[in-house]
Amino acid sequence: MELPETVGQLTEILRQGSYLADRGLATALFVALNLQRPILLEGEVGVGKTEVAKVLAHMLNRKLIRLQCYEGIDTNQALYEWDYARQMLQIRALSGRQVTDDAAVDKLFGPKFLVERPLLEAVRAGEQAVLLVDEVDRADDEFEAFLLELLSDFQITIPEIGTIRAQSPPLVILTSNRTRELHDALKRRCLYHWIGYPPAEREVEIVLVRQPGVSQTLTRKVVAAVNRLRDLDLAKPPGVAETIDWVQALDFLGATDLDQANAEDTLGAVVKERDDLELARDNLAEITSGG
Ligand SMILES: Nc1ncnc2c1ncn2[C@@H]1O[C@H](COP(=O)(O)OP(=O)(O)OP(=O)(O)O)[C@@H](O)[C@H]1O
Ligand SMILES: [Mg+2]
Repeated sequence: MELPETVGQLTEILRQGSYLADRGLATALFVALNLQRPILLEGEVGVGKTEVAKVLAHMLNRKLIRLQCYEGIDTNQALYEWDYARQMLQIRALSGRQVTDDAAVDKLFGPKFLVERPLLEAVRAGEQAVLLVDEVDRADDEFEAFLLELLSDFQITIPEIGTIRAQSPPLVILTSNRTRELHDALKRRCLYHWIGYPPAEREVEIVLVRQPGVSQTLTRKVVAAVNRLRDLDLAKPPGVAETIDWVQALDFLGATDLDQANAEDTLGAVVKERDDLELARDNLAEITSGG
């Protein structure tokens, strides 16, 4: 698919993929696509950071390559690895035949035994791909430094094979929940956008796009209730994902409106901590008091 020519077009493309982006997010993505800059999306939990990368890849007909970060992730999991088991088998086969030529040994470190991980895959795919580096804040410092290097020139050197360079870089979308501050160097390289909770009207729209056919009254009430929950001092305030889940659960149970009773019965769709549940129950009358 051709690149969108305007921010409006990009917004429309995302909407067709059931993703509602506000002007700020759409503009940031539009600039990232056209200037070939990575974009860092930070925000609350469950506000559509990961989803926008998925939808954008799908709608632009690009391959989504996802690198899920976690504590202790290293280059073997992110970049490439040698297929040790297959190498061993090959060595066995070679020694059985008493072959000792160098070429056979070299082949052990050839493409056949190389296991591609997301970053190598992304460098090879270039602009045919969207690289989602998800939850980068969970990785540790060294990994971040390594990532920074990769993002700056999009090339990977494998000593045994050589240097592989992306013809033109993939769109890179990094997400973070801010469990820790990312380094300035990484931030400097990226465009930045903060995704907050959507305004109530927009959140209603999002639910209706994701769960077409549910009662609008129910949706409006639930969104209002979720916003009250967000104002409480919860350990885990609900994101848009929880709003959708809550509406879905209530709708499944046949509800077309939110009241104190059905809210209490389904609270587990939206509040997922014991202490939070207690706090929510104590304030249920106020939380469900209309949209
Ligand atoms: N603007 C939006 N338009 C459409 N759907 C949305 C939007 N924002 C959130 N959603 C819905 O919320 C769900 C959760 O979003 P997503 O998983 O992308 O959140 P996240 O920000 O990555 O959360 P986390 O921080 O937990 O990883 C999506 O599957 C999608 O259904
Ligand atoms: Mg996510």
